[in-house]
Amino acid sequence: MKDVILVIGSSGQIGTELVLELRKIYGNNNVVASDIRASSIEILDSGPFETLDVLDEKKLRAIVIKYKITQVYLLAALLSAKAEKDIELAWKLNVRSHSNILELAKERLIKKIFWPSSIAVFGSKTPKENTPQYTIMEPNTVYGISKLAGERWNEYYHDKFGVDVRSLRYPGLIGWMSEAGGGTTDYAVNIFHEALKTKKYCCFLKKNTKLPMMYMKDAIRATIDIMEAPSEKIKIRSSYNLAGISFTPNEIAKEIKKYIKDFEISYKPDFRQKIADSWPQSINDQNAQCDWGWKLNYNLQKITKDMLSNLKKKYQYNY
Ligand code: SER
Repeated sequence: MKDVILVIGSSGQIGTELVLELRKIYGNNNVVASDIRASSIEILDSGPFETLDVLDEKKLRAIVIKYKITQVYLLAALLSAKAEKDIELAWKLNVRSHSNILELAKERLIKKIFWPSSIAVFGSKTPKENTPQYTIMEPNTVYGISKLAGERWNEYYHDKFGVDVRSLRYPGLIGWMSEAGGGTTDYAVNIFHEALKTKKYCCFLKKNTKLPMMYMKDAIRATIDIMEAPSEKIKIRSSYNLAGISFTPNEIAKEIKKYIKDFEISYKPDFRQKIADSWPQSINDQNAQCDWGWKLNYNLQKITKDMLSNLKKKYQYNY
């Protein structure tokens, strides 16, 4: 049977790139994009799109039946910073949407699920460097709590009902095709836009706040790879650590200065500093490497070069 994929959250930071990549592999008509807001022109023009509030269970079910969906990528969520501003909505959106999809798989209406977790599942008691797969968790944000609960649901539905669910603990993601979506790591996307637009950036985290990050191209490849790996290779059903690279605002600013000599960064930490301080600084992703062959491609130098040249083309900036 051929696979038909539903991406929920196709207007978000990951969805914008993932839909286009999946359409290249599975064919335009076999990847249905959906979001509560309209997606990019590229997505709307290249294949099916459905307006969907993921909490609307009836409509979700109708779409799954209409297109004979076999795989769901559930990307709709409120990220860490936004979630702290509306904890009820964050819990409802992040947890209930996930349960809805797991139930569809339990009923065998769909075959496979991708659900993203995050470095936010770790908390201030977690070892900060080279954070292992299995360690003290105790997240301090509503986003992190919702993601940790989701990880436990993943494993539960897999073990008890045989649901084929796969998951990655994404670090902060950096890409040029879409805006960052309300997280604590957003500065690492915004800094490129501001560097090109105004040659200045005021960072909401302190100069030496080190966090794990990853280029979107690597993240998309990891996502598709874990979904395409044979089931027996996926030994962890809660969620896999995914390392990426680690850097500080000061380090990324230095890298940008190699291209934009008069770029200046200043610092005005806000409530997001506390969230960042509770997260790991670097991640150990040995399990992903061993189990399904994960390998990182982009370091900070390559990310900076690729981001600047693509954004420059996209907005026709000069520098
Ligand atoms: N990038 C996310 C955030 O900052 C972490 O998963 O919320």
